[in-house]
Amino acid sequence: MPAVAPSPAAIRSLYPALTAPTILLENAGGSQVPRFVADAVRHHLLNDCVQLGAGYPASVRATETVERAHRLMDRIIHGEGLGRVVLGASSTALMHVLAQAIGRTIRPGDEIVVCDQGHESNIGAWLSLERLGARIRWWKVDPATGSLQLETLRAVLSERTRLVAFPHVSNLLGEIVDAEGATRLAHEAGAKVFIDGVALAPHRAIDVRAWSADFYAWSTYKVYGPHMGAIFCRFDALDDPVHPLEGPNHFFILRSEVPYKFELGGASHEGCAGLCGLARLLEVLAGEAPAEAEVDAASLAASADRVGFETASRAFAAMTALEAPVQSRLLDRLAAHRRVRLVGPRATSTEARVATVSFLHATRDPREIVAAARAAGIGIRHGHMYAHRLVTAMGIAPDPGVVRVSAVHYNTAEEVDRLMDALDPILA
Ligand SMILES: Cc1ncc(COP(=O)(O)O)c(C=O)c1O
Repeated sequence: MPAVAPSPAAIRSLYPALTAPTILLENAGGSQVPRFVADAVRHHLLNDCVQLGAGYPASVRATETVERAHRLMDRIIHGEGLGRVVLGASSTALMHVLAQAIGRTIRPGDEIVVCDQGHESNIGAWLSLERLGARIRWWKVDPATGSLQLETLRAVLSERTRLVAFPHVSNLLGEIVDAEGATRLAHEAGAKVFIDGVALAPHRAIDVRAWSADFYAWSTYKVYGPHMGAIFCRFDALDDPVHPLEGPNHFFILRSEVPYKFELGGASHEGCAGLCGLARLLEVLAGEAPAEAEVDAASLAASADRVGFETASRAFAAMTALEAPVQSRLLDRLAAHRRVRLVGPRATSTEARVATVSFLHATRDPREIVAAARAAGIGIRHGHMYAHRLVTAMGIAPDPGVVRVSAVHYNTAEEVDRLMDALDPILA
């Protein structure tokens, strides 16, 4: 089938929630799901809602669904053969599971580098290792811009560094961090990297192979899927000869049984079914399947078995192309206001940032700005976005924090115009 990306209108029609009256520009908090995902969840719950591994037909199908979802996730992030994706209730929960596993290998004086630009999930989990003897070193942002510099990272690395935990994109600034550069420096120092890709994953294809990531996290409910978290764990990092890691699941589950050893009680079965439904969205966006919403369960499963990294790359390239004009429109219209201070990069390029845009106004309270948007039927938010340490480092009060507008591929420049037409009078 020729790779012809569908029209924006055809893409929007896949997401039933987009017909609601409220315009959703709060996608960094969570994204909408295409009908395929909801249909796959429904099909699982109404037909295969049984325990895994019992051998009767529904149990065989449920087992296949859970395995299929894991394999699909491995493939779309380019991790097949290199490691496994662990699924769980949320990225935060999984980060704590991994931190506990790493904690069991910590020796007094081992150093963990954390980063004040991050969401608190990717800080708090690692700070918990302090009481096991780890020494925490901070990779700090430039307080004027909130940006991270590789030179600053270099200065906190040492031969004692075990792990460098950093965000791929700040969920407040929208800025893309040089993850490959940071990983190179960490690896040169003999450390592993934990990359929080939660704020990147809705916008760009993940490529754990190209980026040499040891651990890479994202939240599937921000990437058009069900409410779950995911962490890719590289086999090399799990089987480190000096510090082999062991997941916390029951003693009779072998250390080598990854991902299950890290999935306490297993991953949500209906969530896994929903993840399988995501494959068809990727095919549609990649121009490899028609944009028709009604697809039966067997053909959704076939998509989930078929889709790999190439399709995901094409799909995310299409999403980036759709987002680019929306991001530019938003930044341009904000730039027209002298008293608006962008909190994050001014650059409109998709190399530099994603369409997650935060700002402050010289005199208007963030609450007032968000309320004006709400009155116009547009959902945005204010706050510290759990990047409490980042706003504090930048001298911004965590409450009320910043105003954040976050778009993804299904948003349009017209929606941004509706927002800015509503805000122009108070931002002027
Ligand atoms: C950058 C970033 N990291 C981590 C998280 C936590 O993800 P979860 O809600 O899956 O625990 C979020 C949630 O907003 C986030 O934006």
